Amino acid sequence: MFARGVGDGTDIVNKEMYTFADRGGDSITLRPEQTAAVVRSVIQNNLLADVSALRLFYIGQYFRYERPQKGRLREFHQFGVEILNSPHPESDIEVILLALNFINRIGIKDYNLKINSLGNDASRNNYKQALVTYLNDNITKLSQESQNRLTGNPLRILDSKDKNDIEVVAAAPIILDYLDNESKEHFDFTKEILDNNNAHFEIVPTLVRGLDYYSHIVFEFQNTHLGAQDSFGGGGRYNKLFSQLGGKDIPAVGFAMGMERLLIILEQVNPTIEPRKIDVCVVPTNEKFIKYAINISQTIKSHFPNISCFMDVNRRSLKAQMRDANKNNVRFAVIIGDQEYETQSVSIKSMQDDANLASTNDNKQVTIKTTDLIKFFTSNCL
Ligand code: HAM
Repeated sequence: MFARGVGDGTDIVNKEMYTFADRGGDSITLRPEQTAAVVRSVIQNNLLADVSALRLFYIGQYFRYERPQKGRLREFHQFGVEILNSPHPESDIEVILLALNFINRIGIKDYNLKINSLGNDASRNNYKQALVTYLNDNITKLSQESQNRLTGNPLRILDSKDKNDIEVVAAAPIILDYLDNESKEHFDFTKEILDNNNAHFEIVPTLVRGLDYYSHIVFEFQNTHLGAQDSFGGGGRYNKLFSQLGGKDIPAVGFAMGMERLLIILEQVNPTIEPRKIDVCVVPTNEKFIKYAINISQTIKSHFPNISCFMDVNRRSLKAQMRDANKNNVRFAVIIGDQEYETQSVSIKSMQDDANLASTNDNKQVTIKTTDLIKFFTSNCL
C-alpha cells in the first residue's frame, strides 16, 4: 500500500520504511505515514457512501529509518487531518487555515508557510519533460544521487540539499510556468483567499515534498528553531491516491504535523507550559472515610468531566493533604471528617481568595449534604 501510495521511488519507501518478516513469515511494515492508510480505509469501508465530503483526523506514531538527530527520530508522532471528496480550493484553504489557527493558538509565531503548485497530471508531465531535458544538459554538474533520480523521480532533484545541485536547480525551468488553466485557477484562488485571510505565505517553486501522491497545491510549515529539520508540518492535495490504491477517482487534501518538532519549538517560545490545574481536592481526614471519599470523587468526576478532581492515595494527615491542596492552588477542598461522615455531608472550603462560595456566612466554607453536591458544583464551579 505504501509503495503504491507514497511511491516506491521515494526515500520514505525506498530507504526509510521498516519492512520485515514476522515470526510467522508474514511481511510486516511499520507505517511511515497515515494518508495512504486513511485512503485505503475509506475505500475498504465505503466511508464516502453517505457524505458529500468527509473530514477525518488522526494522531499516532510513525516509523522511518532515518539517521536520528534533533527533530528527526525513527519513531515519531504526527497528527493530521484530511478532507476527502472535494476537488475545490475551498477545501485546500480549510485545511491550511485550520493548521494556521492551530499554530497560532499554541503560540508559535516564528514560522513560514511555503506553498507551491504541482498542477494536474498534464501540467506536471509537460513540466517533467522540460525539467529532464534541462537536467540532462547539465548532468555532469549534478550529484550522483540526483543523477540516479533523473530517470525515476526527477522532481525530487528540485529540493536536493547538495550545493552543486542547488546551483543547477537555480536556473532550471519552474513548474509555475507550466500550469495549465485549470491548475492555475486552482492555485490562484487558493492564494487569493489565503491573502484575504491574512495568511502570509511564500511561493517556493522548488517545493515538491517527499511523497509521490501530490498534485496541485503542496505546502510546508517551517521554523528557524529546528535547524536542519526545519519543517514541522506539511501536506497538499492528492487527487490520484484513491485510484492508485484501487478506488474511484476521489480528490482529497490534508496535512500532518510532527509532534516532537512542535514540542522543540514550543520549548523555546513558551517554556512555562503549565500542567493542568486541579480544581477540587477530596480530603478524607481519617482512613475510615476513604470509601466514602472515593464515592464523592466519583460523583464529581462523572457529573463534571471538565472539573479535575484529585484525592490523596497515601492516607496522609489532614494537614499534609491541605498543604498539597494549597501548593497545587486548588479551588475547593472537599473535607470529610466525623461529623460530615455521620450526616452524609461534606464541608467545602474555598481555597482561593477570588473563589467565594455562594450562600455562606464567611464565604469560605460551607457544609452541604452529599445529595446537594451536583447542585453545588453547578452553581459554584465551572
Ligand atoms: P511528511 O512531510 O512526510 O508528510 O510528515 C509530516 C511531518 O511529520 C513533518 O513535517 C515532520 O514534522 C514530521 N516528521 C516526519 N518525519 C519525521 C521524523 N523522522 N522525525 C520526527 N518528525 C518527523 C506526511 O507524512 C503526509 N502524510 C502529510 C499529509 C497529510 N499530506 C496530505 N495529508
